Amino acid sequence: MSITLSVIKADVGGYVGHSESHPDVIAKAGEYMAKAKKDGLLVDYHVTKCGDDLQLIMTHQQGEEDEKIHKLAWDTFVAGTEVAKKLKLHGAGQDLLSDAFSGNIKGMGPGTAEMEFEERAAETIIIFMADKTSAGAWNMPLYKMFADPFNTIGLVIAENMHTGFTFEVHDVKEHKKITFNAPDEIYDMLVLIGAPSRYVVKAVYHRGTGEIAAVSSTQKLALIAGRYVGKDDPVCIVRSQGQFPAVGEVLEPFATPVLVEGWMRGSHMGPLMPVSIPDSTPSRFDGPPRVVCIGFQLAGGSLVGPRDMFADKAFDLAREEANLMADMMRRHGPFEPHRLPLDEMEYTTMPQVMRKLEGRFTDLE
Ligand code: F6R
Ligand code: MG
Ligand code: MG
Repeated sequence: MSITLSVIKADVGGYVGHSESHPDVIAKAGEYMAKAKKDGLLVDYHVTKCGDDLQLIMTHQQGEEDEKIHKLAWDTFVAGTEVAKKLKLHGAGQDLLSDAFSGNIKGMGPGTAEMEFEERAAETIIIFMADKTSAGAWNMPLYKMFADPFNTIGLVIAENMHTGFTFEVHDVKEHKKITFNAPDEIYDMLVLIGAPSRYVVKAVYHRGTGEIAAVSSTQKLALIAGRYVGKDDPVCIVRSQGQFPAVGEVLEPFATPVLVEGWMRGSHMGPLMPVSIPDSTPSRFDGPPRVVCIGFQLAGGSLVGPRDMFADKAFDLAREEANLMADMMRRHGPFEPHRLPLDEMEYTTMPQVMRKLEGRFTDLE
C-alpha cells in the first residue's frame, strides 16, 4: 500500500511569549484534522506541538505536495491563528507569511517534510521536531544515523545496510541541489553539510533499494521573508528498522548534544536539548533549543502511537549536559561564539545599526 506521510508545521502563536503552545490552538487543529479524516482526505493524523510550534502529522494517499493536503494544513493554521488572536497569544499567525493560500504551502512560511512510500510489513516511523533552531539542525544527526559507523553499527554488521546511503543536499541560498553517496563521498559532503546555515540535508535514500529513508524541512523563514520573523524550527521524518537504522541508532545522535543556531531572537548558538513533548517549553533565555521525537508504527496508514521517545531516562544525562553547555555559552553574553557571526545576523538588527553608523566611520590613517 502506497502511503504519504506529511508533517507540516507552523508557529501560529505562543503561550506564554514564545515558550509553549496553547491547548485551545492544538484542540482547534484537532477539529480540522478530524473532519478531514471523516471526509476521507486523511487516512489518519496526529496533532502535537514542540514549544510554540503546531505540528500536523498526516497520512494520506494524495502523494507529496498535494494541493488539497497543503490547503488543509493552511486552513488549519489560519483557524489556529484566529484562536491565538482571540486569546491574544504572542505572535499570532507569525509563520503565515502570505494573506491567501496559493496552491502549495512551501514558500508561504510553514515548514514541510513529506515522503511517499510502500508501507512495509512493519513500518517504523520516527518524527523529530525542533524549536528555537533553524533548518540545517538535522545535518549532523542525519550524517551520524546514515553515515557514521560509530553511531550506527548496522552500517558495519547489517548486510541490508552495508551498501550505504545517498544524501540529497540543498544549497538554500543558491537554490541548488546535489547528491552524495556515503561512505565513498563523505569527505566532500562534509565540506558542505558542516556549514548547516547554507547546506541542508533534504533527504536520505537507501543505496541498494533506492527507497526514501529520511526527509527534512528545509524552509528558511528569513530567506522567504527577507527579515527575521522567528526561527525555522524544522522537522524531520526517519524510517527505521530493517534496511534502515534501528530506533536506537536513529535516536543515538541526540545522546550527545551539540551546538545549533537559534535560541534567543534566533541569533545565538546553543545546545540542542532532547526532551519529552511536555518538556518542550523553551524558557531560559527563550531556550535552550529543544528537540522532541515521537515514534509510530504504521498499520495501513493508521498511526499507531505516538511513543514519546525522548521521555526515556537514558536521555537525562544529555539534558544535564545541554544545561551545562547552555551555562557555558550564556557567559559570553552578546559576544561570539554565543551570538551568531555577523553574516548570520544580516536578517536581524544588523542592517539598521550599520545604516545608522554609516556616516560615523572614518578611514584609518
Ligand atoms: C526565537 C524566538 C524568541 C523571540 C523573542 C523576541 O526563535 O522566537 O527568542 O525572538 O522572544 O520575540 P518578539 O520579537 O516576538 O517579542
Ligand atoms: Mg514563536
Ligand atoms: Mg518556534
